[in-house]
Amino acid sequence: MNSKHLTFALTVCILSLAPFAGKAQKANIEHRVDSLLNLMTLEEKIGQMNQYSGFWEATGPITEQGNKLEQVRTGQLGSLLNITGVDHTRQLQEMALQSRLKIPLLFGQDVVHGYRTIFPLPLAEAASWDIEAIERSARVAAVEASAVGVHWTFAPMVDISHDPRWGRVMEGAGEDPYLGSLIAAARVKGFQGKGFGNTDAVMACVKHFAAYGAAEAGRDYNRVEMSRRELNEIYLRPFKAAVEAGAATLMNSFNDINGIPATGNKYIQREVLKGEWKFDGFVVSDWGSIGEMVNHGFSKDCYQAAQQAITAGSDMDMESRCYIGNLAQLVKDGKVDERLINDAVRRILTKKFEMGLFDDPYRYSDSERAKQQWDNKANLEASRDMAKKSIVLLKNDNQLLPLDTKRKTIAMIGPMVKAVRDNLGFWSYSWPDDTARIVTHWQGISNRAGKNVKMVYAKGCDINSTSKAGFAEALRVARQSDVIIMSIGEAGNMSGEAKSRSNIHLPGVQEELVEAVCATGKPVILLINAGRPLIFNSASEKAQAILYTWWLGTEAGNAIADVLFGDYNPSGKLPMTFPRSEGQIPVYYNHFSTGRPPKNETDVNYVSSYIDLPNSPKYPFGYGLSYTTFKYSEPVLSKTAMNAGETIAVKVSVTNTGNYDGKETVQLYIHDLVGSVVRPVKQLIGFQQVFLKKGETREVTFTISINDLKFYNDDLNLVAEPGDFEVFVGGSSATELKKTFTLL
Ligand code: BGC
Repeated sequence: MNSKHLTFALTVCILSLAPFAGKAQKANIEHRVDSLLNLMTLEEKIGQMNQYSGFWEATGPITEQGNKLEQVRTGQLGSLLNITGVDHTRQLQEMALQSRLKIPLLFGQDVVHGYRTIFPLPLAEAASWDIEAIERSARVAAVEASAVGVHWTFAPMVDISHDPRWGRVMEGAGEDPYLGSLIAAARVKGFQGKGFGNTDAVMACVKHFAAYGAAEAGRDYNRVEMSRRELNEIYLRPFKAAVEAGAATLMNSFNDINGIPATGNKYIQREVLKGEWKFDGFVVSDWGSIGEMVNHGFSKDCYQAAQQAITAGSDMDMESRCYIGNLAQLVKDGKVDERLINDAVRRILTKKFEMGLFDDPYRYSDSERAKQQWDNKANLEASRDMAKKSIVLLKNDNQLLPLDTKRKTIAMIGPMVKAVRDNLGFWSYSWPDDTARIVTHWQGISNRAGKNVKMVYAKGCDINSTSKAGFAEALRVARQSDVIIMSIGEAGNMSGEAKSRSNIHLPGVQEELVEAVCATGKPVILLINAGRPLIFNSASEKAQAILYTWWLGTEAGNAIADVLFGDYNPSGKLPMTFPRSEGQIPVYYNHFSTGRPPKNETDVNYVSSYIDLPNSPKYPFGYGLSYTTFKYSEPVLSKTAMNAGETIAVKVSVTNTGNYDGKETVQLYIHDLVGSVVRPVKQLIGFQQVFLKKGETREVTFTISINDLKFYNDDLNLVAEPGDFEVFVGGSSATELKKTFTLL
């Protein structure tokens, strides 16, 4: 046998042994968990189910301090969050190893869109529709965080939301369950990397289970009332995809669902997650959410809350101290079966074993690795790449963009031009050298514009104040220039947890500043920075070009310059519908027809519409322009009828008809015309990204199978029903290009 054959034979042999190795490892871990469980007292078991916030910035209300370190030494704590740094995590782990059974701690952290290198906020990343880039972003975050001792990130957040008033839309992937599911799975894979055992894999924690994004009136922590059908069809889908992708943990949510707080909700946690989906990881409560069931009026006290939460399937208590304070007594009183506690602890210990923490509790706290990751150029490059792909071009009259570099004077006006930390947005960390590292819009654009362009600046106004004192200076600067770039929007802490807004217009007097600057008659480009869809109707009419830049992270200024000057042709597409007015909310593309759909935008004759506003949004889901233009052919179906076991091919030709090479996201929607429960007017079931040189045409083919046609019927069965379907293809959810087929 020559060496090639030998390598081949060995590979075959190793590959065929791999599943056995996996099984053997699983059995070995099960055995070690069981042995450990047998040694544990009830109090030690409950200690593993207890998690506190550590000594870094708190991410919720700290209720009671106590001597945390003593609890670490005596095995009363299984995990800490808000803790970081090689030295600190090592010290804490040393303390944990002083406890009787020497069980290592798990260190959790909200690494939501980067750790040292901040990436665009997750909603912005979703606008790229680039699943691979999104996975890479999560990978970089995991590599950086794991090096300083973080084992576990409280991400991805996969809550679907139809309500931009809710500040937490910035953390999710928007409104669509299909796109949201792909992104959820990609983020889990990115965080968990090649799997536990590798020191750069961090456990994902998919949150917030469930339906948190449907909080009534967009007010954070509020109630949710929804049918189980809608829950399963829309809100649970990304969670299911994340579980199927191997997510290690889930976090439950603050809201109640149909009157039962999610934390005490048996249906979602025991029946769906651990039952139907066979999830074998563990569930952590959200911050204090076990204790908060008392405020909900669902539990009389912490004692009852602990009983309800463990019964419902919440395995670890983040910060409410109801488990550590009451579970032992509940077992003694016969109110909680110790087997429930064993099950929770088994799940938690299994993850600690899988992470290799019993073999080497310090394996994640690695100063050498931390040093390599701390100022890693490749990570910054990845962040810049993700950032430029996240930008959405909303308007570009007279092809004002890309900017021609012969422009002699560029004015930059607005409160975000020189902003530093606001570029990172919510759920990001402050580092002492932030000012030196974060590329402001001013820096990025000035660098790229080069020496031949004169750059002038005026702030104009603050983000959220009523003072117009800076307007005069802004106008003076505007008049000197050939083109004006205005950077405006929300401050980095205006979207995020507990950041609901009833008014989602541009804050303060920014829109008036835009109007005043536009009135000079100079061409104006808006950069709108925000963690949610904002409303800016007047600005959008007056400015000639608009880039929605969200909050783009450490490399914001460079990425924006890449797009403004045409080094990157914008390709982002909105992952959430933009309303014309708050009165349209909730607003989303996959709505229903109703019995009285309006015939057109102005039809108000006893139809389901407003008398003062069209039903259509300002910008639809899936919308986003390019510097070039794309023309779609009529879609062609391979047949007009299909049986359950068959598929239909949908072909469409896309031509780049403009003057620049560019990328288009070709979207596929269906409409099930008649169902045993009414179906949305459109539902995304596929998309493909194609890069076309100018003048180039490419045929794009989608395959529709029965799985794409399924929905939950009234008995909660996932079914596809025979009948007629419309298929839509195009560059946004507003596309009218359609064909029909029949499912036999
Ligand atoms: C948030 C979670 C977060 C947790 C820990 C809670 O307030 O809802 O998303 O993971 O705090 O920081």
